[in-house]
Amino acid sequence: MDPQHPDRRPRRLRDLRGRRGLGGVREWGFFQVVNHGWGRAHAGGPGRVGEFFRLPAELKRSYANAPTTYEGYGSRLGTEVGAELDWGDYFFLNLLPESAKDYAKWPTEPLIVGREITEEYGREVVKLCGALLRLLSVSLGLGADFLQRSFGGAEEVGAACLRVSYYPKCPQPELTLGLSAHSDPGGLTVLSADDRVLGLQVRKAGRWVTVRPLPGALIVNVGDQIQVITNGIYKSVEHRVVVNAAAERLSIAVFYNPRSDLLIGPAPELLTPEQPPLYRPMTYSEYRMFIRKNGPKGKVQVESLKTV
Ligand code: OGA
Ligand code: NI
Repeated sequence: MDPQHPDRRPRRLRDLRGRRGLGGVREWGFFQVVNHGWGRAHAGGPGRVGEFFRLPAELKRSYANAPTTYEGYGSRLGTEVGAELDWGDYFFLNLLPESAKDYAKWPTEPLIVGREITEEYGREVVKLCGALLRLLSVSLGLGADFLQRSFGGAEEVGAACLRVSYYPKCPQPELTLGLSAHSDPGGLTVLSADDRVLGLQVRKAGRWVTVRPLPGALIVNVGDQIQVITNGIYKSVEHRVVVNAAAERLSIAVFYNPRSDLLIGPAPELLTPEQPPLYRPMTYSEYRMFIRKNGPKGKVQVESLKTV
């Protein structure tokens, strides 16, 4: 428990049993985790991670990603002609499954925090995601391993990747966004962000609410795949990043996703004649390619899976 925030007492598992969804998570789609055991060390503060983005463009380009591989350095998400561009660069790495890792795309020190610390951080966050999936499953009145099974089995057979985002200072911040409105396509997202430079905003009842990270907290949100599996009981929530003229901003997101070759659809356990399946099944690998080509587009993508 965070002594400065006595109201943020973690709920016990047994308090959640039988409820259809954790109220706060259902309402916001976002929450913060404190006392997770990872100090601020990982993100460095994110200072050192940022060094890579200040390198000359040609050097950064030697790590460039491709639409088919994802891994590496990128400065745009939508690859289709006409996709809007955002005021931010990113670096993308696969953490799980092991076979998806391409170390040739991992910048070596001192360009990014070391490989070992990145991997260790990844493993810790994956464990945290496993625990959160159990919590969410129990909150649905189902067995603790329900969501993990829907994701394809044990924690390590799932898929996890990491995205370091860099939002430089912007001389006219009102004209652009660091990252346009989107919902995260995958399962769970765990974000470590600088608590001194704000930028993340979450959409709530049509308004944008700025997230204020608690010191050292990890910010967690539910992605589209959990919306699909829970047939809309939990919903991914739109968010975006605004930029500012005074300070650059860095964030590190770990995405914990279902196995990419598995068809993901509404779980039969949650369907009744009154609650028929709302989404058509699709593999995560197909879904993310679709997102990759179109770029961030609010909740349009998950809505397009709707059956009714
Ligand atoms: C993302 C994201 C938020 C941030 O990478 O999907 O929403 O603060 N990042 O960088
Ligand atoms: Ni996001």
